[in-house]
Amino acid sequence: MDISLNVNGHRHALSLDPRVVLLDALRENLGLTGTKKGCDQGQCGACTVLIDGQRVLSCFVLAALATGEITTIEGLAGEGEPLHPMQQAFIEHDAFQCGYCTPGQILSAIACVHEGHATDEDEVREYMSGNLCRCAAYPNIVKAVLAAKSDMAANA
Ligand code: FES
Ligand code: FES
Repeated sequence: MDISLNVNGHRHALSLDPRVVLLDALRENLGLTGTKKGCDQGQCGACTVLIDGQRVLSCFVLAALATGEITTIEGLAGEGEPLHPMQQAFIEHDAFQCGYCTPGQILSAIACVHEGHATDEDEVREYMSGNLCRCAAYPNIVKAVLAAKSDMAANA
C-alpha cells in the first residue's frame, strides 16, 4: 500500500506491505538506523520514537498507522546545530556505554520531562523503566535526565 510518513519535518512517500512496522520502515526504507531494534516485541524501549511528542515503541506501531509527526534521534539536532539538551546531558553525565539503548533512552527522556514525570530520581526511574540498558548505565541516565530537565526549562 502507498503511505506517507512525516519524519523529522520531511514527508516521505513509501510503498509498503501493510504489515510493516514503523521501526522497519524507518531503518530499512528510510535508512534512519539511529532507531534501534532490541527485542522487536515491545519490551526493551530501544525502538522508542516520538509521534506528536508522545513516546511510542516503533516496533509496535504499523507504519501505515503512523500518521503524526515522527521524531527520531536523527531529528533532534541538524548538521552543525547544537545538540538537544538531553543529548548534551547524556554526554556530560557519561550516561551510556555501548550506546545501543541510547537513542531510545534520549527520546523517552525528552518525553518524560515534557510529561512532568522527572521531578526526582525515583520518578525518573519509574517513568524511564520501559527503557532497558544492558550496560546498566542507569545511575548516570537518571543524572542526565534531571540535568537536562533544568536546561530544557531554561531554553523553553
Ligand atoms: Fe521495540 Fe524492543 S525493539 S521495544
Ligand atoms: Fe549499552 Fe545501554 S548503553 S545497552
